[in-house]
Amino acid sequence: MISLQNVSKIYPGGVGAIERLSLEIEAGETLVLLGASGCGKTTTLKLINRLVEPTSGTVLIEGRDVTSLDPVVLRRQIGYVFQGIGLFPHWTVAENVAAIPKLLGWSDARIQDRVDTLLNDVGLPPDAYRARRPAELSGGQQQRVGVARALAAETRILLMDEPFGAVDPITRDGLQEQIKQIQKQLDLTIILVTHDVSEALLLADRLAIMDSGRILQVGSAHELSTQPADPQVASLLAMPRRQSKRLQSIIGAGATARDRSDDD
Ligand SMILES: Nc1ncnc2c1ncn2[C@@H]1O[C@H](COP(=O)(O)OP(=O)(O)OP(=O)(O)O)[C@@H](O)[C@H]1O
Ligand SMILES: [Mg+2]
Repeated sequence: MISLQNVSKIYPGGVGAIERLSLEIEAGETLVLLGASGCGKTTTLKLINRLVEPTSGTVLIEGRDVTSLDPVVLRRQIGYVFQGIGLFPHWTVAENVAAIPKLLGWSDARIQDRVDTLLNDVGLPPDAYRARRPAELSGGQQQRVGVARALAAETRILLMDEPFGAVDPITRDGLQEQIKQIQKQLDLTIILVTHDVSEALLLADRLAIMDSGRILQVGSAHELSTQPADPQVASLLAMPRRQSKRLQSIIGAGATARDRSDDD
């Protein structure tokens, strides 16, 4: 349903961010982009909703070249949460979440209902949070409003760039579950960027492992673990297990992190 074909992006100034990248994302799947800082994950997401235009290659959504679509209309049809694209500072939480439904001409009752449902879903009780402005929220709460806003218009496609980066582990755990449920309910197609390998494994139907503007390998967690195409893929996929072993040895042996620090 989303197809990147031989896409390259060279930013003004000559930085080659993406190099001949091809990727197919099926309808209804959650694909996670994983890779080191600067490898081109955000650029890849932005190519899909035309926040970035490719230098060469083609991006298709349901068979249509995105360059043939009005970017504003396109972005109303695709929910997105991006680093650095924040909330409207002078609008309340409710107004922020309602932004796209309002543009789409939903009735006030339907909008209000949707806003309350989503604020509950992301763990911000509407009675306490609806009327606040972004400056009156913590960073993680702002991020959650961003997630609610991205989900508000019931778009079929959702682009999420480190959506839970500033959220504590317990809340994050809850949000991951919510996203999974909402994904299933609405049969969403999600492309999500995270640096957290465990989060990637928990959420992804398939993972695309990126390095220096290219995709090293695409596949399910099982495929990537059992048939890694590259030592970097193997090492990345083994990380949660490696960490859990280390943690287990600290907890089990009553050792401290310092006792263990020269072991590995
Ligand atoms: N607007 C821009 N102009 C010039 N270069 C850019 C621009 N945006 C990104 N880049 C460069 O393109 C490359 C890829 O950037 P991108 O933001 O896609 O990486 P990323 O994988 O999302 O990294 P991170 O994990 O740190 O968010 C980097 O070298 C970055 O410096
Ligand atoms: Mg990024």
